[in-house]
Amino acid sequence: MSSERNWNGEYDDSKKEETQKFIFKDTSPYPVVGVQEKNHLYGRMMLDNIGGSNSEMSAISLYVYNTLLLENHIELSKIFHKISIVEMHHLEIFGKIARLMGENPRLWTQRGNRMVYWSPAYNQYPMEMELLLKNALIGEEKAVQKYEEQCKVIKDDNIVACLKRIIKDEELHIEIFKELCRNYC
Ligand SMILES: [Fe+2]
Repeated sequence: MSSERNWNGEYDDSKKEETQKFIFKDTSPYPVVGVQEKNHLYGRMMLDNIGGSNSEMSAISLYVYNTLLLENHIELSKIFHKISIVEMHHLEIFGKIARLMGENPRLWTQRGNRMVYWSPAYNQYPMEMELLLKNALIGEEKAVQKYEEQCKVIKDDNIVACLKRIIKDEELHIEIFKELCRNYC
């Protein structure tokens, strides 16, 4: 099949079952996005989930980079691509909540008394396979940690439901990267 062939004409058949066996998002539906009432602090937390250092934008950009970097490992490249799409959905959910809170959903976050735009410098970009996979794994673990902390603080059932649903996806990503680490590291 042409999809298993990179554009140097080389095949990478060894791991071609990988993308078929993984699921990239949890099977449960996403909650309807809503908020109980406007809350400035919660809005700013959502902005940080979009465009802070530990954020969906950081994950998306890293995975797009890894998708390109792994062009000779087609199946791994596809995995990063598919996970990046799930992270885009997360960004959209947080963006909708931020909008409902009256925020401007740019890729930025509050730092002190000013707004700071997201930067690609937030990411590390290891190119060696083991470090690349571990870097992705650590990012997912930090995301879960952050969202779990927010679930404890936020007293809005709608937002917490969204966070909990997103955590389920991130936990799947952790399992995927753990398995890839076992296979490739
Ligand atoms: Fe993720």
